[in-house]
Amino acid sequence: MRAVIVGSGSEIPPRPVTNQMLSRIMDTSDDWIRERSGVETRYYVEPGTATSDLGVAAARRALDSAGIEPADVELVVFATMTPDHYFPGAGALLQAKLGLRNVPCYDIRQQCVGFLYGLQLVDAQVRAGFARTVLLVGAEVHSGFMPYSPANWEYLYGRADVPPTPAEHAWNSRFRHLTVLFGDAGAAVVVRAQEDGSRGVIDSILGTDGADYDKLYVPGTGFKHRPYTDPEQIARGDHIPVMDGRYVFKLATTRMVEVAQQVLERNRVGVDDLALVLMHQANRRINEHCQKILGIPDDKVLHNIQKYGNTTAATIPLLWDEAVRAGRLRPGDLVLLVAFGAGMSWGATLVRA
Ligand code: ACO
Repeated sequence: MRAVIVGSGSEIPPRPVTNQMLSRIMDTSDDWIRERSGVETRYYVEPGTATSDLGVAAARRALDSAGIEPADVELVVFATMTPDHYFPGAGALLQAKLGLRNVPCYDIRQQCVGFLYGLQLVDAQVRAGFARTVLLVGAEVHSGFMPYSPANWEYLYGRADVPPTPAEHAWNSRFRHLTVLFGDAGAAVVVRAQEDGSRGVIDSILGTDGADYDKLYVPGTGFKHRPYTDPEQIARGDHIPVMDGRYVFKLATTRMVEVAQQVLERNRVGVDDLALVLMHQANRRINEHCQKILGIPDDKVLHNIQKYGNTTAATIPLLWDEAVRAGRLRPGDLVLLVAFGAGMSWGATLVRA
């Protein structure tokens, strides 16, 4: 029994935000962002739109593309690090908004590797016979992490004339190495059990090393604090992720190459056998480095970080969905998925599309 991806869909908020627009409210530049990360634009929701909304829209498209009715879904796995509420998770909200039956809904939080952890979980459920039709969703609303005041958001969009005060500009600039990288998006796949074994998830290797958790994490608004959130934490900026970018960059390149090599070797697959390699979109330079070491030709690698920035759990299903819609990914293609993220966690998955 194999878990086959039979449909995909995605949802992007309506308006691109350029690097130039960000430079209106903090000390940054188009050149710096492009050169260091590859990001050119990203999209943010308007206040009131939540992660589950992006997930629902993406899931509807995925179900449509698979020709499957919501009533047929037997399991939901929702990967996000930016849920609508502290609890319950976004999976329950998606179940209700989509009008699914009272099926089990898992919420998982492996950040940028969330989709690959989710896919491994779905694969195991399908192989065990617990579910035949599954919705796997990765969605994020990172804009809630952005430290900008409502007036600064309006100025960023050119909808108001009042620029940030020097104090606001300095505050926004304090987080610039992180905030410019991230965007909001949702993407989903429908997975179905298929008995003949010719297509589907072939193998996954996942890993975590929590020793480095504080190189990329949110220091505040957690239950280590009593109460778990308070005005002092917000004033310190403890609700905004802390990231040691250089350290994460180094670890990402090492772990992604290692785990990709492991899954290829374990399955006796060579780079020549692969039709596509879809890597998590955190930084174009990370992926170019991995691509070079692994010896993957340019025409087998897709990037979309330039358009959307890092959309964490959504990057890989979004790449998958775009590749299908562009005719770059066809049933039967052998695809390698690779990701690294906060935790620190990493993974590589081989899939026959
Ligand atoms: N605009 C202008 N200048 C900036 C910006 C900005 N947005 N951000 C930082 N700088 C400045 C720094 O202050 C520093 O200035 P200094 O030399 O005067 O001190 C200079 O640029 C260089 O900064 P570095 O941090 O050394 O730049 P680097 O080349 O490492 O790029 C980056 C930073 C883009 C963050 C990179 O390290 C990176 O991408 N790291 C990995 C990120 C990642 O993968 N995150 C994990 C995924 S997220 C998840 O799992 C949830």
